[in-house]
Amino acid sequence: MIYFDNAATSRYMPYEVMNAYVKECSRKSNAGRGGHSESVRAGLIVYKARERINRFFGNEKGECIFTKNCTEALNLALLGIKLRGHILTTATEHNSVLRPLSALKERGVEVSYVTPDREGRVTLERIKPYIRSDTYMIALNARSNVTGEKSEYERIFAYATEKGIITLLDGAQEAGHGRINMNHSNVDLLALAGHKGLYGVQGIGCLLFRRGLKISPILYGGTGSLSVEIVQPEDYPEGLEAGTQNVAGIAALKAAVDWTDERLEEIAENNLRLTASLIDGLRSIDGLRIYSSSNAAGIVSFIKEGFDSERIADHLNEYGVAVRGGLHCAPLIHRHLGTLSTGLVRVSFGYGNTLKEVKYTLNTLNELEN
Ligand code: ALA
Repeated sequence: MIYFDNAATSRYMPYEVMNAYVKECSRKSNAGRGGHSESVRAGLIVYKARERINRFFGNEKGECIFTKNCTEALNLALLGIKLRGHILTTATEHNSVLRPLSALKERGVEVSYVTPDREGRVTLERIKPYIRSDTYMIALNARSNVTGEKSEYERIFAYATEKGIITLLDGAQEAGHGRINMNHSNVDLLALAGHKGLYGVQGIGCLLFRRGLKISPILYGGTGSLSVEIVQPEDYPEGLEAGTQNVAGIAALKAAVDWTDERLEEIAENNLRLTASLIDGLRSIDGLRIYSSSNAAGIVSFIKEGFDSERIADHLNEYGVAVRGGLHCAPLIHRHLGTLSTGLVRVSFGYGNTLKEVKYTLNTLNELEN
């Protein structure tokens, strides 16, 4: 099988990540839930992972809250921060931002959805006209999961910070493909998935946020601290991490960050090469429309006239190529692009993919018949 669905979950599993994961699975114990040495050992793993992840993302003085995925991290940011007034977001967002915001709209929050420019980019110029005196937060992805286009989040967030607006970055499709530095880029909150460009395992994500922000829990329960109280502790990180931790996933995430840190530029360059080659080949296929330019995240989306994206994805699957068809959980960008009814075929490359695989896929697409 040629695996081109790395934007959903990256396929390659670094040995170091697998080793860290299996080691913890085979010796599991609760972190911060007792004084015995195994619990202390697990607690240390979690502590070191927080430190490493915070350092990698330029959040040395801030918090790192472990969640089960990026969706939970985004929910914690949007629902935990007690949003009010007006929130700015974009039509390129994933449902993990759009749906919590829809729930908040029912509680009186106003939301504006900024569309990208003609090149598919979310720029400061697009954002500026929507900013109001009561704009409380800008919630934006670093990169679209549909087109692979990077937003101008650094410029946008510098401007937002000047205006006193809180900034939330959905880093799901950028982490591991480009270096994100919260401190240098005015990112107040950063939501991350462990299982995509960071090459960790599924079931772990995190929300990083700067010191001084007040976030309320969205999940209540045991924290291993202040156990005499029946109210949730307000301390971070414990108060926001109710229940037993995914220690193996956390250990794997630390190993994944170490692994990715050493190879990020190499992977990004390979993704640029692969996307450029695929786009070049797709251009010569009749009736094919491409919605991406070459990019470091390795994402290329397209559709062929007269075809539904799922049908093309099925065709590729029959030839042993795994891609994602459909709407990619981001309905507003499909509406904007006019692909709500057909969806898009999304190819997403990752570590280990080759030009030979791209060539095979192009030959396979040439065999698509009406
Ligand atoms: N959000 C993931 C994707 O883009 C699952 O495919």
